[in-house]
Amino acid sequence: MTATKSQKRSRVAKEIAVKVIKKMSHKQDGYLHGYTATEHNRLYHQARFLEDHVFAGVDFSGCKNIIEIGSGVGAQTEILHNRFPKLKIACIDSSREQVTKARAQLAGPIGKGLVSVTQTDARSLPFQKGSFEGAFITWFLEHVSNPVGILKETKRVMAINAVIHINEVFNHSFFTDPFGPATQEYWNAFNEHQSSLKGDPFVGAKLGNYLQKAGFKDISTNFSYWLLDSRHPKFRAEFLSYWIDLLLSGSAELVKSKKVSKKLVLKMTAELNSLRKNPDSVFFLGFVKAVAYV
Ligand SMILES: C[S@@+](CC[C@H](N)C(=O)[O-])C[C@H]1O[C@@H](n2cnc3c(N)ncnc32)[C@H](O)[C@@H]1O
Repeated sequence: MTATKSQKRSRVAKEIAVKVIKKMSHKQDGYLHGYTATEHNRLYHQARFLEDHVFAGVDFSGCKNIIEIGSGVGAQTEILHNRFPKLKIACIDSSREQVTKARAQLAGPIGKGLVSVTQTDARSLPFQKGSFEGAFITWFLEHVSNPVGILKETKRVMAINAVIHINEVFNHSFFTDPFGPATQEYWNAFNEHQSSLKGDPFVGAKLGNYLQKAGFKDISTNFSYWLLDSRHPKFRAEFLSYWIDLLLSGSAELVKSKKVSKKLVLKMTAELNSLRKNPDSVFFLGFVKAVAYV
């Protein structure tokens, strides 16, 4: 990347940070990332950007139908539909905003009877016992207070031998070189805030335990990661842009609840931008994939 381009990107990222800070008073309570159009677009971009890792090993080709829990705006559903065009997918999400957006986004497959989107809480699913041949959960259990209860309820609506695929965060895995003190302080606050909302930013590492407690069998877990360094400067820069957007998506809520200052948000953004420009920087992040059967 040329110095001019790189300076431009830093300026754009800083402008985004400033805009996010200005919008803070309009955000909602309770959900770290919020429900704005910017956040909806971020979820679509995130799903496509991380697709190779999230969908590695995910195979529903032997299934007639699956349930997707915490489907949000349907960002993963679009990919599921593209990969398995004959599969019937029943999406559920508790948020009216997300469900409305998902229904608009998925109007095509909904019209063909391949996708449905129901607004409901995952703790009590409006489906009969044994209804689905598979289940898919991504970036969802990190937001709930009783993951085992939700996994038991998911299992109830799954048929015998049905498969569940789960992708969940393990935020402890985040590492950069050079170390960024403001980034680390912001990241700690981000994770503490998620815990204070009764979520779990480290849920990925606990998936094996939780699936076992919920009564699933043949459970396997894998750690999937990105180790980005001077071998992949372009992808490292793209990943850092994605990462800045993700961290900023929680900033309104974090500043509002006084967990971080506006100054820290700007410092964190500047540190991550300088990693993007540093030819020797290292970025590491991982998450946990689990597969199990009823
Ligand atoms: C980070 S989003 C992930 C969306 C989607 N899986 C994706 O990867 O794009 C988490 C979603 O979980 C939903 N959610 C949180 N708690 C829920 C609950 N108890 N029941 C159903 N959905 C819930 C939120 O509304 C949000 O849409």
